[in-house]
Amino acid sequence: WQFYAPLIREINKLKREKDAVILAHNYQTPQIFHGVADFVGDSLQLAIEATKVKQQTIIQCGVHFMAETSKLLNPEKTVLIPDSRAGCSLASSITPEDVMAMRAQYPGVPVVTYVNTSAAVKAVTDICCTSSNALDIVEGLDSDTVMMIPDQFLAQNTAKKTKKKIITWAGACEVHETFTAKDIEELRQAYPTAKIIAHPECPTEVIDACDFSGSTSGMINWVKTERPANVVMVTECSMSDNVAAETPGVQFLKGCNICPHMKRINLENVLWSLHTGTEEVTVDPEIAEKARGAVERMINFGK
Ligand code: 13P
Ligand code: SF4
Repeated sequence: WQFYAPLIREINKLKREKDAVILAHNYQTPQIFHGVADFVGDSLQLAIEATKVKQQTIIQCGVHFMAETSKLLNPEKTVLIPDSRAGCSLASSITPEDVMAMRAQYPGVPVVTYVNTSAAVKAVTDICCTSSNALDIVEGLDSDTVMMIPDQFLAQNTAKKTKKKIITWAGACEVHETFTAKDIEELRQAYPTAKIIAHPECPTEVIDACDFSGSTSGMINWVKTERPANVVMVTECSMSDNVAAETPGVQFLKGCNICPHMKRINLENVLWSLHTGTEEVTVDPEIAEKARGAVERMINFGK
């Protein structure tokens, strides 16, 4: 923190001067999460917060699809991402043409798309979802069959909780797909008293072997409420670092993977972004209008 303090001070000063707000995902490093973010959350919370921003500029500390979502919801504002190469294996697993081919194969079946997709993909789907509202949205749609793209594991984990038929796509999160039931078994043997919690982007066998699964904020809230003596968060590594500061007495045991895309964002490029006004996120207005519809239908769902 001694090393980071001057950068944190400079960023916090500059963001006020430049009328900028920093929205950061729960997978960002503690120095961003605790040091410079104005708002932290899971992808649903970040999208909702983006609808309330007063400042002229949004600095998105997260991956590209999150910055695109902020731009969709704020077409008049400037949205910057400190490194536009911060992608996502789920977002790159499917194209609008793939979705159109699925639609042709299953005419009339609604398409629920995970927010972890490009604006162009969102634009050809019916409604977005995140890991925290996927089940509610699938259950709430007026159809017994639903396409749920592109995360096969989120789709399979949701399918286990509903009677509806779910048609999946073969995408996966490179960070969560590698966890196996054997990993959980080994963790149980190594830490017999520890609670093990996981993100629903993990394979179903992993979720079945865990004590809880939920969105990134769902997992954080679970630890804050349950206060287990020991816990393993089977997800991205910054999660336990970030929540540890707020949960004294809870011991966090390592069983995590790093998301290389989330880790492209750091204090240095946040400062660079503020200084130079780059890298600006843009979305073709025609695509933006359609994609915004899918995001807004999610935000307003059930209201
Ligand atoms: P959350 O919506 O749970 O924050 O998940 C986003 C994500 O990218 C997880 O890998
Ligand atoms: Fe994408 Fe997985 Fe990284 Fe989340 S953790 S941004 S789903 S690659």
